[in-house]
Amino acid sequence: MRFKTVFIAAILLGIFLSENAQAKKGSSKAISPDLFGIFFEDINYAADGGLYAELVQNRSFEYSLSDRNGWNSFTCWEYITKGYGYGTISVETSSPVNPNNPHYVVLKIEDVGQEGTGLKNSGFDGIPVKAGEKYNFSVFLRPVSDNSFPVQVKLVGKKGIVLGETSFSTDSKDWKKYSATLTVTQTEDSASLIVLAKAKGTLAIDMVSLFPQNTFKNRPNGLRADLAQTIADLKPKFMRFPGGCLVHGDGLGNMYRWENTIGPVEQRIAQRNIWGYHQTAGLGYFEYFQFCEDIGAKPLPVVPAAVSCQNSGGTWRIGGTGQKGIQLSEMNDYIQEILDLIEYANGPVTSTFGAKRAEAGHPKPFNLEYIGIGNEDKQTPEFRERFKLIYDVVKAKHPEITVIGTVGPSPKGEDFELGWNFATELTVPMVDEHYYESPEWFIANQKRYDSYDRTKSNVYLGEYASRGNTLFNALAEAAFMTSLERNGDVVHLASYAPMLAKEGHTQWNPDMIYFNNTTVYRTPNYFVQQLFSVNQGDRYFSDIISTDGNKPDSTLAFSCVRDNKSGDVIIKLVNCSKTEKNLKIDLSAFKDIGTKATLTQLTGDANAKNSFESPSNVSPSNAELNAAKRFSYSTQPMSLTIIRIKGNK
Ligand code: AHR
Repeated sequence: MRFKTVFIAAILLGIFLSENAQAKKGSSKAISPDLFGIFFEDINYAADGGLYAELVQNRSFEYSLSDRNGWNSFTCWEYITKGYGYGTISVETSSPVNPNNPHYVVLKIEDVGQEGTGLKNSGFDGIPVKAGEKYNFSVFLRPVSDNSFPVQVKLVGKKGIVLGETSFSTDSKDWKKYSATLTVTQTEDSASLIVLAKAKGTLAIDMVSLFPQNTFKNRPNGLRADLAQTIADLKPKFMRFPGGCLVHGDGLGNMYRWENTIGPVEQRIAQRNIWGYHQTAGLGYFEYFQFCEDIGAKPLPVVPAAVSCQNSGGTWRIGGTGQKGIQLSEMNDYIQEILDLIEYANGPVTSTFGAKRAEAGHPKPFNLEYIGIGNEDKQTPEFRERFKLIYDVVKAKHPEITVIGTVGPSPKGEDFELGWNFATELTVPMVDEHYYESPEWFIANQKRYDSYDRTKSNVYLGEYASRGNTLFNALAEAAFMTSLERNGDVVHLASYAPMLAKEGHTQWNPDMIYFNNTTVYRTPNYFVQQLFSVNQGDRYFSDIISTDGNKPDSTLAFSCVRDNKSGDVIIKLVNCSKTEKNLKIDLSAFKDIGTKATLTQLTGDANAKNSFESPSNVSPSNAELNAAKRFSYSTQPMSLTIIRIKGNK
């Protein structure tokens, strides 16, 4: 026992001495190991039609006029009566699979015809399928008439060629889920799924689903493999979800309520997407947590602060409801919902919500450390009252969770000031700053956090982007990110936003990753995020890099961090100008490194971009390097250079 105490004291003294030595030199400080993460929001068809691998659009007939003008339960479906079949089709709600999922289709078949009567769905701009791959089909069926139904399922190419098929018969009088596997014989970018009933009578149909078996990590109800891998390659330290504005929603009834998104998919509550389409909630809280775990990112859910978006109903339109708060009399229930979320993530399997997590296939906790409350909310008395009610309870019941408050949509201004004052008053541990500005703004504002008061809340830079996808935009962000590292003692988390955008369905530009049904491309901004993330450190060193006789200028930015795990020292050099610039690097302070180093560079024309046609126009190159203790390095015009010197660990 005594030995242990002495031993611990010795360790503490060691830590003290080494910290003190560092402090004496005044050249290094601990920085957040979680600094670079990602922001996920279902905007630009990021979830349904994007990352969520479901290939059938409007699978549960829940599309409606409130999702988008002109949409209804039968949007994306076609009634098929090929081969002289005839009958009627209707959308009904009287006896659904589940009350949360009220609409379904009823086929009344008078004459089957030669080929059967049924439904056709062409997915999200067509169903892409690959030769040799297997697809999981499922459907809920309920014969209304007193007979069973043979059912044929086909994947059909643009020219009518059958690419895969299967058949089965109903064997229950009640709603029953039927599942089958289709093996595809030919690759096709734009197939359709056809479901045909082959008997006279009345048949109810719901939840028509088709998933590739090859989802990311082969998860059922999983994610599109290539897109998920592109995200995983960022090696993000955390992932924020489910938004953005999607969180606080367009009106009180449109808030993102996490409990509606767990459990069997046919029992989840779909709703309008604030960005003008539909959320199935198929990609729900379980899938978000699972994905975070799969890619090694800490989960960072954001819940509404019990108020809807201040722009609800469109403030520009007459009749917009603006920000509305949940009734104070309902706040206890709402706060309980947030506590339940924490229990769902971290509670034991014996707890009510821990048991639901286990039921979904994950008995182990998801290790939730962060939770955001609110998104860019207007700092009104209604917001403040509700935020405080939530914050006080979460803080008291879960001191282990870092609560993140919100300070408006801009880097300054009324909500920013009021939000910060409020967070300071409440001693909220962290606040969520957002800004979308020009690349010049990012270059000019690298000193932003140098003077932040370290005794106040820490910062989560939850959304930021310079307005564009050129190399110059990406380098402006890179320059700014060196300042985030320098201030990694106060800026604890940062995420570029938005992350995903589907071709033809983009509500917001720029984004980090663009995709269509078959292809994904990474922007220069993506590569900057990736290079910072995979080269993150947990200690920042100043006085290692200096301008070589040149006056310091804001187009030349640099940082030096060390990763404690590997012992590697990582130098980042950003030149956002059109001329070559020299820097001096002095590694003599590091005793335990060798000379072996890698050099990664992202460079090109200021206006260079990537695209579906030229996905690698701007992409990083790698080389090996022998790093001397002291050396000069000439940075290319328009470049990010990362020199990673191997530690002797
Ligand atoms: O990232 C896109 C949107 O920008 C987010 O939904 C919102 O929080 C911000 O205004």
